[in-house]
Order: sequence, then structure tokens, then C-alpha cells
Amino acid sequence: MKAVIPAAGLGTRFLPATKAQPKEMLPVLERPALQYVVEEALAAGVSEVIVVSNDDKPSIREHFSPNVPLFEMLSNKGKTSFADAVAHAGGLPVSIVPQPEPLGLGHAVHCAADAVGADEPFFVLLGDVLVPDNGVLVRMKEVSESHGGASVIAVLRVPREEVSRFGVIDGEPVAGGAVWRVRSLVEKPPCDEAPSELAVFGRYLLTPRVMELLVTTAPGAGGEIQLTDALLALLSEEELYAIEVAPDEGYDTGTLEAWLDTNIRLALRDPALAPVVRAAVGAR
Ligand code: G1P
Repeated sequence: MKAVIPAAGLGTRFLPATKAQPKEMLPVLERPALQYVVEEALAAGVSEVIVVSNDDKPSIREHFSPNVPLFEMLSNKGKTSFADAVAHAGGLPVSIVPQPEPLGLGHAVHCAADAVGADEPFFVLLGDVLVPDNGVLVRMKEVSESHGGASVIAVLRVPREEVSRFGVIDGEPVAGGAVWRVRSLVEKPPCDEAPSELAVFGRYLLTPRVMELLVTTAPGAGGEIQLTDALLALLSEEELYAIEVAPDEGYDTGTLEAWLDTNIRLALRDPALAPVVRAAVGAR
């Protein structure tokens, strides 16, 4: 099974940090945010990760390629853990496909169609949210298996005044709890028209039919080709399920505030870094 990570955004919210580097490569603690998402996919048993990127992002390709001179220099100096970190990142099974034009999330996913192949289900992971404990994709696989290989998405309950930033589902609960059979979904609805407060969270396990439907998906919200609209079309042919994730399972990095919050929360989970955060806060 393969995973697609769209990484073709402009990173405007992080300027000037993103003037010369992609926002997906901004560090969260010691790793680029994108590396967490790649590792989450691999932890779910994915064999290859396909990053969809615009042509201006060579640093993504370089990060996931071997750097033998750097590895040897660090090894020769006895900096083994850094050498290992360099070898690890360079050895991850990541390939890059270009998205020539920024036509929307659905278009970005379809750019990976040839790399994914037409015979297998595939994951889509959006890079703005990190799931460091890697639990969500595994639960999605289990729900898919127990419903005949159906597509499964993750949803998060958000305050009603925020739903217009997300895809939103209309679903009915399935026995067992925290699982929904999706009846309908809509991309970025006005808050007072949204069918629920269950927002699409950025993790998808999709059947190959979705790639085919993306070919004929017309531009929708914001004039962009939306993955949500392809999933709505899927519903007239196949079942779609949603699992509800807990608020503390996902760590958002999409805004400066969320990125800062995520760094602090992850640092507090690290015994070597937690005292640094506590000392800094205590000093104020
Ligand atoms: C995308 C999806 C949306 C989803 C959101 C999650 O929107 O289109 O359905 O709820 O990611 O972060 P974007 O944030 O790219 O506008």
C-alpha cells in the first residue's frame, strides 16, 4: 500500500521563513514537519510515500536522498547519532511527483495516480497535522477491513464557528462508537449550514475508484478541485466511513501559533527538553 502527501502549498503564513524553503521542511523540534508525516505512514505499513510537490522544492528531494559525504564526515568525527539521523532520513522510501499548477487538493492527489497505481487502496496524509503516536491510520485500516475494504476518513469534532475552514460530514453512528457511516460531506460550508461539527481531519484511506473520480471532479469551493467533492461522488457508488479522532491525537502546524504550540507540547513529552520549556516559562 502507498501513501500520498500533498506538499505543494506556498507557506504564506510562515513568511519570511518560507521565502526560500518549503513550509513542509520547517522543523518541529529536530525534524522537518514532513518527516513526521512520512514516518507516520511507514508506521502503518506503507511501502512507499509519494510526496506531491511543486517544482520549486528541491530541498524535499535532497532531504529524503542519501548524503554520503555528510554521513562519512559525521561518522569520522564520532557523531554517530547525527550520522544515523542523516542515514535514516536519506533512506526513507519517498518519491516526489510534481504538481505543475496549484489547482487544489484533489488535483494534487491525482498527480500521484500513476505512482499509486490503479489496483490498491491508498492513504492520503495532509502535512499540516502531525500524529506522533501513529494511532489513526491503523484504526482506519481496521474499520476499512471490517466494512469490506471501504474508504475511511478521519474526522475531528470542532466548534461550530470553525467548521467553515474544513470539509464537514453528515454521518450516522455505527455500532461500536467513534465510527460513522458517511451520508454526505461538503467542503468549507457556511457555519450555519454545516451538517455537523465533524470536520475532515486530513487522514484518508481511499479505494482506487477515488483516483478515477478525481479526473472528472469539477472545481468547487475556492475554485479548486476538492478531494471532498470526489468523496461525495464516491458515495453514490461505494460506502464511506469516518473515525473520530481525539483532540490530543493531532498536532496542528498550519499556523505560527499552532506550530509553536506543537513544538512546546512535543518538547514537554521529551525528558531532555521538558526542563528547558519549564525553565523558560518559569523565568517569565
Ligand atoms: C483540506 C481539506 C478539508 C480538510 C482540511 C483539514 O482543506 O480540503 O476537507 O478539512 O484540509 O485540514 P485545506 O486546509 O487544505 O483548505
